Amino acid sequence: MAELNFTVNGQAQALTVDAGTPLLWVLREQLAMTGTKFGCGMGLCGACTVHVDGNPVRSCSYPVEFIDGKSVTTIEGLAESDDALHPVQQAWLEMNVPQCGYCQSGQIMSAVALLASNQAPSDEQIDAAMSGNICRCGTYPRIRKAIHRASE
Ligand code: FES
Repeated sequence: MAELNFTVNGQAQALTVDAGTPLLWVLREQLAMTGTKFGCGMGLCGACTVHVDGNPVRSCSYPVEFIDGKSVTTIEGLAESDDALHPVQQAWLEMNVPQCGYCQSGQIMSAVALLASNQAPSDEQIDAAMSGNICRCGTYPRIRKAIHRASE
């Protein structure tokens, strides 16, 4: 077991957990933050993407012991308030991106990370940055449009 201190969406957390537990399950089961989804469980689909110290990680295969002293952001923490969506979330709405919606929180977290490092990505840069996020509904063209909209 490991005693961990970290923040999630700006809130301090102190947990004693099995050090090897994937961050995804700590978020979903211990902190009741179910916006982050389980897809493949092997780091391959991107559904579980969150940010650790601003960097996108696959939480399904990220041992929770690595977050000690760090800052985690999930889809629940992107918007600054209940009344205002994050610009990327707003663009997602305007472009009607989701179909089934299951992968979309991970898609949005990867898009936010992309735009933090590149404020005006090209189509090719978007496709490269988002290639690790799989969508079975094939919403990729709308994802690309929404990222362009968010970058305006
Ligand atoms: Fe983590 Fe697929 S559930 S990458």
